[in-house]
Amino acid sequence: MLRRGVTMETPFTQLVDCTHPLQQAAMGGVAGPELAGAVAAAGALGMLCEFDVEPSTDRITRALQLSGGGAVGMGFFGQWMDGDLATFEDAASRLRVVEVFWTEPDPAVVGRARRSGAARVAWQVGTVDAALAAADAGCDFVIVQGVEAGGHVRGSTGRDELLAAVLGRTSLPVLAAGGISSAPDVAAVIGAGAAGVRVGTRFVATAESRAHPAYISALVAATSGEDTVLTTTFSEGWPDAPHRVLRSAVAAAEAFDGDFVGHVVSGPVRVAVPRFGVATPSRHVEGEVAAMALYAGEGVGSVTDVSPAADVVAELVSGLG
Ligand SMILES: Cc1cc2nc3c(=O)[nH]c(=O)nc-3n(C[C@H](O)[C@H](O)[C@H](O)COP(=O)(O)O)c2cc1C
Repeated sequence: MLRRGVTMETPFTQLVDCTHPLQQAAMGGVAGPELAGAVAAAGALGMLCEFDVEPSTDRITRALQLSGGGAVGMGFFGQWMDGDLATFEDAASRLRVVEVFWTEPDPAVVGRARRSGAARVAWQVGTVDAALAAADAGCDFVIVQGVEAGGHVRGSTGRDELLAAVLGRTSLPVLAAGGISSAPDVAAVIGAGAAGVRVGTRFVATAESRAHPAYISALVAATSGEDTVLTTTFSEGWPDAPHRVLRSAVAAAEAFDGDFVGHVVSGPVRVAVPRFGVATPSRHVEGEVAAMALYAGEGVGSVTDVSPAADVVAELVSGLG
């Protein structure tokens, strides 16, 4: 029997104890406590990102306050988390999920989370081998990211092909990510056997997003996946890491005359943003936002307005159940 308000019970909703088989992606510069808390309160899994201008411990506390007892997690990048293990341990002790991206699944990281608290541990991967390695490392669930995804893209396989190749080869709940921005997308991916979907780009254009308004407007103006491109253009600070952005951002950055496209402003502190810098333009940014890393997935054509995150959650799951 389904719990009240549950659209569809899956191994993922049972594991994380949330209402909908939907995870909002951890997104640097975008997913602060307001977004993660609102998504959690709406019954999906809301995610914070390790990196932000505000202290992580305060963001965790605030997201939990806003979540109404819903499911909140935090995402980490494997290559940088050694510099901030205290945050990882804090997150594992207070949140429902800790998750790692980019590096290969590591049992030592999973063990650290287990020693720190009761959080479920997940890994976002881009290949079948890495998904199987996540199971071997002791993860509780795995997210397979297709090449359609916005932001940094780990693999080179399409989402549906990767999901089909992983399902049946692991007993872990498998979520799928990449280009999912509408109710039909969600229903199709769940129908294909995913235990949940992970959505990034659609949540950038929400009232609770910390993204810069000019970035959000550019997403709303884009009409299809043709407006995005997989590139290594925005590599200052993170070289050789493919990412999907709006094509317009690549053109504007290449045309920009100068070494710095703007500043991140935090109180009295102003940090220059290099041309081709990797950071997502947040509300704390000033300058030529159009020439910054405007991350966007192939589902950007379905991003046609800026809505409260709870409405986006309700819309995305409306084709389930
Ligand atoms: C603006 C933006 C920032 C992102 N930042 C992160 C991040 O900090 N950590 C992470 O694990 N993934 C990040 N991603 C990738 C997401 O985890 C996810 O794979 C992707 O958003 C899914 O594709 P979609 O954007 O088409 O929904 C980001 C994606 C976007 C669009």
